[in-house]
Amino acid sequence: MKLLSAPLQGYTEAAWRHAHAVAFGGADCYYTPFIRVERGEVRGRDLRDLQSACCGTSKLVPQIIFHDRDEFKMLVEAVVRAGYDEIDLNMGCPFPPQVHKGRGSGIISRREVLEEVLEEMKNCNNCSFSVKMRLGVSDSDEWRGMVDILNDMPLSHVAIHPRTGRQQYKGELDMDGFEALASALAHPVVFNGEIHTPRDIDALASRFPQLYGVMAGRGLLARPSLFKEWSEGTVWNRQRMLSGVIDMHAMVFDNYTSRLCGETQILSKLVPFWEYLAPFIGSKLYKSVKKARSIADYQKVINILSEEC
Ligand SMILES: Cc1cc2nc3c(=O)[nH]c(=O)nc-3n(C[C@H](O)[C@H](O)[C@H](O)COP(=O)(O)O)c2cc1C
Repeated sequence: MKLLSAPLQGYTEAAWRHAHAVAFGGADCYYTPFIRVERGEVRGRDLRDLQSACCGTSKLVPQIIFHDRDEFKMLVEAVVRAGYDEIDLNMGCPFPPQVHKGRGSGIISRREVLEEVLEEMKNCNNCSFSVKMRLGVSDSDEWRGMVDILNDMPLSHVAIHPRTGRQQYKGELDMDGFEALASALAHPVVFNGEIHTPRDIDALASRFPQLYGVMAGRGLLARPSLFKEWSEGTVWNRQRMLSGVIDMHAMVFDNYTSRLCGETQILSKLVPFWEYLAPFIGSKLYKSVKKARSIADYQKVINILSEEC
């Protein structure tokens, strides 16, 4: 069972990925947040996020989001130039600005574009691909109109988040929809959605024995030891987890304070680190983190946490 760290814009950037790999580990692969074309060019800061890419022994796979064949080609070329030979295709983003332009989950209903992308893929001899997708934008049957094209694509796997774009990140997971799409696919399948505990992984593995892997996003941010606990077959106590979180935070902190200028900018990158960890550190400490207006104030809060260690 492959253990995959999901991409989350604003959270799983290079600093987080590196620190997670070193302090906790357990993920076979990290995916970058989607790399996009903006004003006719591949966004510079997306490419910079690829350069500081050390994830220990885990693999890093860049993800791209595209509107058409030209964007697809431009992004693939940029990512291959940056030294990567595996690319994940975003067919799941639910954000209206992307979906309305036919990107992310919006591409699921665009057969003609997917056919062109398939042709383009055949020219990419130096690169392999995977897909991360939803069931559709507003209808959980939308995938039926394009699954044949997916099956013709040379993909290592397809990760399915069994919701529609309209559901965003809330609401029931459509397990029947997942099963229907998984059994129509000729590729290995990864499950993504609401994996929070090692037992959730066990439940998926026993319900879907053919599963190639599981991918966790918010669950891994909230419980960075999730994959390690599952593979070790142990449940970490608070002390062990806290010590890992403190180590991980120290690396994220060093990364941002050495690269960025201005306390406000640094704090704006540090606060998201704690967002999904708020239940673990407690809402009072999390509120203090959010209220900090200087690095000195912020460190006072972190010191309280470290003392518990
Ligand atoms: C803030 C945020 C940003 C996200 N950014 C991306 C992204 O860049 N690419 C992508 O494929 N999915 C993105 N996702 C979706 C996650 O990768 C994942 O599919 C989703 O959160 C469901 O999995 P989870 O329940 O394990 O978090 C994002 C989700 C959130 C909440």
